[in-house]
Amino acid sequence: MEKSEILKEIIESRKSVFPKDYSGEDIEQGILEEILNSAQFAPNHKRTKPWRFKVFKGEEKNLLGQKLAEIYKTQTAPEVFLEKKYLSISEKISKTNIIVTISVNFSGLLPEWEEIAATAMAVQNMYLTCTANNVGCYWSSPGMIKHLDGFLGLEENQKCYGLFYMGKI
Ligand SMILES: Cc1cc2nc3c(=O)[nH]c(=O)nc-3n(C[C@H](O)[C@H](O)[C@H](O)COP(=O)(O)O)c2cc1C
Repeated sequence: MEKSEILKEIIESRKSVFPKDYSGEDIEQGILEEILNSAQFAPNHKRTKPWRFKVFKGEEKNLLGQKLAEIYKTQTAPEVFLEKKYLSISEKISKTNIIVTISVNFSGLLPEWEEIAATAMAVQNMYLTCTANNVGCYWSSPGMIKHLDGFLGLEENQKCYGLFYMGKI
């Protein structure tokens, strides 16, 4: 196949795949590295490389799940709190092999939107590399991420914009 045909095929077959459809198999370390490495090739103004990713697997992933569930419980008014939603947070995380948190480092050299845009392009590279390797993935942006900065050890000029779920399909 021509390079352009392969690219077209990957771009057009990319889709979001959710934890209920992950097989539970492990993503090989080499493939994970390829996915993360692909992000580094995204265009970025003034070479600020503003994306910051943290990889959560195994016990660390479970702790992230517990933290998200705790945030949901403490930040949701009792009259709208749903036990089912609360339980589904940890369940989704347990069906996911790897979660990468998506954060942006604001350098102060550029308008903030440029660094968010560059990060989104880096995430698209990860989406495409997942597609090429039969890894299901999706970008999740629940309200709870507003309260994750401390847990992630982010600095003053950094902000979390989502969770990138990954699992073999
Ligand atoms: C910035 C961003 C945030 C997203 N947040 C969520 C989310 O919180 N929950 C969700 O189910 N999907 C989320 N998605 C995935 C979209 O729902 C998905 O891309 C859209 O439905 C189109 O489907 P596709 O990716 O298969 O083309 C997000 C996508 C982007 C780009």
